[in-house]
Amino acid sequence: MILARNLTQRYSLSIPTVASRADPADEPVAEGTSGGSRRAPVLTVLDGVDLEVGEGEVVVILGPSGSGKTTLLGLLAGLDRPSAGEVALAGVALADLDEEGRAALRADRVGFIFQSFHLIPTLTALENVLVPLELLDRDRAPSPAQAEATARGLLERVGLGDRLDHHPAQLSGGEQQRVGIARAFANQPAVLFADEPTGNLDRKTGEEIINLLFELNEQHGTTLVIVTHDLELSRRAHRIIHLAGGQVERIEVLGTCTGGGSGEAPRSGAGGEG
Ligand SMILES: Nc1ncnc2c1ncn2[C@@H]1O[C@H](COP(=O)(O)OP(=O)(O)O)[C@@H](O)[C@H]1O
Ligand SMILES: [Mg+2]
Repeated sequence: MILARNLTQRYSLSIPTVASRADPADEPVAEGTSGGSRRAPVLTVLDGVDLEVGEGEVVVILGPSGSGKTTLLGLLAGLDRPSAGEVALAGVALADLDEEGRAALRADRVGFIFQSFHLIPTLTALENVLVPLELLDRDRAPSPAQAEATARGLLERVGLGDRLDHHPAQLSGGEQQRVGIARAFANQPAVLFADEPTGNLDRKTGEEIINLLFELNEQHGTTLVIVTHDLELSRRAHRIIHLAGGQVERIEVLGTCTGGGSGEAPRSGAGGEG
C-alpha cells in the first residue's frame, strides 16, 4: 500500500527578511551551495527513511517530540514533497504526479487526521465532513442527500450528533478533533493517516475513537498509519516503527496482517485482550 525509499526531508531555516523580499536581485538562498555570506542553516528532519506498509496493515509510528513523525506522515500521504527519496502510494509514484494529481489521489484514497485539526473555520461541523464527499470523483460521488446522511452518521458515530451546526470556534479541542476524524472517514479511504488522533480526548472518548479506527480496518481493510503515544492504541498495531534521529531506529512486530482489501478476514489479535 505504501512504499517509501530513502525519504529525506530538510528544512532551510532562513527567515525571509524585508530586504530580501524587496530586492529580487538578492541571491536566492540555496541549500549547501557555497559563496553566499548569509547561508541558511539546514535542518535534516528525516534522513533516509525506508518503510513499507502492507494493505490492511496497522502501523504505529513512535518517537520523541520533534523526531519527524508529522513530517513523515505528510510525505507518505502526498501532502508534502520530500527533499530526496520517493513514495509510492496505492501503487502510484507520488513523484510522477503534480499537485493536482496528488490532490486527486488523496481525495480518492487517503484520509488524514491532523494533529492540529485543520478544519475550515467558516464551515459548520457537518459542512466540514461533507468536504471530502464533495471532492469525490463522479463515479464515487453520492447524491447530496446521501452525502448529508453519511456526514451526519459519521458525526453521530464520534458523539457529535448534537453539534452539527457548530463552527470550529464553537467547539472544544476534543470536539474539533472528532470532527476531523469524521471528515477523515468520509471518503472511505484505502489508507488513513492519523496524527495523534486521541491527543485531545479524554480516556473514554479516546477508546471509542480507537475502536472506530480498528472497525474501519477490520470492516473495510483500511490501512492505518498512526502517530500516537497512546499505549492502548499502539499495542493493537501490527507493527510499531520507532523513529529517532531522523531514521527508523527499530521496528517492533506485534502481529501479522492478514492483508487483502475485502476486510473479510478478521485480524489476528495483536497484544491480546484485556
Ligand atoms: N516547515 C518547517 N520548517 C522548519 N522546520 C520544521 C518545519 N516543520 C517541522 N520542522 C521541524 O522539524 C522537526 C520535526 O517536526 P515534526 O515532524 O512536526 O515532529 P514530531 O511530529 O515528531 O513532533 C521539528 O524540529 C520541527 O521544528
Ligand atoms: Mg507531530
